[in-house]
Amino acid sequence: MAKKRVLSGVQPTGTLHLGNYLGAIRNWVEEQSQFENYFFIADLHAITVPHDPAVLSNNTYAVAALYLACGLDLEHTTIFVQSHISAHAELAWLLNCITPLNWLERMIQFKEKALKQGEHVSIGLLDYPVLQAADILLYQADLVPVGEDQKQHLELTRDIATRFNFQYASAEAPLLTLPEPLIRKEGARIMSLTDGTSKMSKSDPSELSRINLLDSPAQINNKIKRSKTDPIRGLSFDAPDRPECHNLLTLYLLMSGKSSAAVAAECAEMGWGQFKPLLAEVVIEGLRPIQERYASLMADRTAVATVLKRGREQAEEIATQTLCQVKDALGFARPL
Ligand code: TYM
Repeated sequence: MAKKRVLSGVQPTGTLHLGNYLGAIRNWVEEQSQFENYFFIADLHAITVPHDPAVLSNNTYAVAALYLACGLDLEHTTIFVQSHISAHAELAWLLNCITPLNWLERMIQFKEKALKQGEHVSIGLLDYPVLQAADILLYQADLVPVGEDQKQHLELTRDIATRFNFQYASAEAPLLTLPEPLIRKEGARIMSLTDGTSKMSKSDPSELSRINLLDSPAQINNKIKRSKTDPIRGLSFDAPDRPECHNLLTLYLLMSGKSSAAVAAECAEMGWGQFKPLLAEVVIEGLRPIQERYASLMADRTAVATVLKRGREQAEEIATQTLCQVKDALGFARPL
């Protein structure tokens, strides 16, 4: 039986943090041999909020190098840059024309980001989920591994595909595959270190709120030491009203590879003073090999560029095929 096809991406905005790693990239790596995988760098999405042209290209290479450093293996996985394949933008336009405006106005991420942008909200920010749907549907992906914040965008993608199939294909022979989100229970929503009720995010103004994958041991120690906690002794996953406790224990669980029963037993009697150094240690040791591989990959840009060139060639073949099918279904005249 053919392997199921998996697709996902990360935006090259700022440095990637533990939320991106534990909610997405690490899961891609762990399951890659079971699937046919396409992972890309979502640089077209990165310009939906004001961006700095001087750093976009470097950030794009940095994300590609991090993908490889985290363990994506080219034997199972194609890595490419979204803007290198023009079919993404073209399919987004075609899907725009069948997507009702009010489906987009309901998107939680749009509402949250729009609030921060004030008067400068671009059409691109509103249209972001349609481009995301195009990313997924172009590759006829079966599964999309993401963190929980992307769930609504995945539901929208399914709605757009269903509408397209209904209007321009048939129930017996749907043209676009409906993707399933792959969201793991643990790590799906890593919270800020300074507020256990809000998500760890690249756009949080406070550096202390997140651990970046490239943070030094001293930075990690400092951030964990200063992370928000409470005066209660004894740590447990499901203590009510202790969101920080739940989050830090989850980080420990995921970075140590221990079972939740083992972590619960180990930490049941601990105070923060004893727990925080343990957590810092597993985070530092977990990130060390990634950081080492990242440094050597970034020292040889041409190797990363070659990976992206090959990825583009492989991905473009599939993307072009779907785009042609969609244009045929919509009735466009074919060029000679
Ligand atoms: P981005 O760059 O915001 O996030 C990349 C991935 O990291 C996950 N994530 C988190 N997971 C757990 N806890 C957190 N605090 C946390 N913060 C981020 C996100 O859920 C995501 O999986 N729209 C996407 C990029 C994208 C995409 C796609 C993804 C564009 N096209 C097609 C899948 C399929 C995004 O916002 O990524």
